[in-house]
Amino acid sequence: MTSAAQISPTLDPKLFGDAPARDARFREKSRWVDLMNFPDDHPLKVVEFFHRQMNEEMNGMENAAQSLADFPDADWNVRLSIARQCADEARHVEMFRRIFESRGGEIGAYPVLNFQYRIIANLPDLLSRLVVQNRSFEAGGIDAVTFAIDEARKRGDQELVELFEMQQADEITHVRFANEYIRDTIRADPRAALRVARALTLASTAFTEVMGREGIEKVEYLTDERGRMEAGFGLEEVKAATTQAIKRRASYEGQ
Ligand SMILES: [Fe+2]
Ligand SMILES: [Fe+2]
Repeated sequence: MTSAAQISPTLDPKLFGDAPARDARFREKSRWVDLMNFPDDHPLKVVEFFHRQMNEEMNGMENAAQSLADFPDADWNVRLSIARQCADEARHVEMFRRIFESRGGEIGAYPVLNFQYRIIANLPDLLSRLVVQNRSFEAGGIDAVTFAIDEARKRGDQELVELFEMQQADEITHVRFANEYIRDTIRADPRAALRVARALTLASTAFTEVMGREGIEKVEYLTDERGRMEAGFGLEEVKAATTQAIKRRASYEGQ
């Protein structure tokens, strides 16, 4: 195993906890610019994405497992949903590993990021973790996968279309149970909204630190409004997310 305890000196230790354990094949980087970011028409672009996504799914599984271990007294229903999520993410790891290897990839051939685990497992309470992992990062994942399904379909890659559609159905349920839990928690204790806001601010700062301008401006998609509605967001929240995505894009295009 590689040493999981060290934080790169370039990341703010207040925002990032320890890395998840990986075996010696994996090379972890701190920032998006340190990955192999191939141009869209590069022959390795898609294969590298499978490797990156496989590791992201591992982060998702590890976060869900860590929350189960850290919050044994949480409500049974939410623990059950997290346990299901853990199983889903493990299946996603296997799906991406299979397609990666079947298309000639070798585990460890490309560097990876573990910022999801480092940011989320570092948060002290379950509400904050679900806000960041499920309601923020995974909701962004719904937007990304919808875009990826369209792209795969345009390329005539039916195997990949089906893989993404399976993944998408699961991710929607992960965002939905978190939205329900967050809403119920705030209803029972309105002060919890402050924790939600604090967690989002912290995650957004940490995410920007990892991705940098280069990574964020590469985002080609806006929001999947239908997917987000299915995942339990209200109409106002969906519209706000779209407005924010449009603004972000315009601010980068204008520079
Ligand atoms: Fe997943
Ligand atoms: Fe997920």
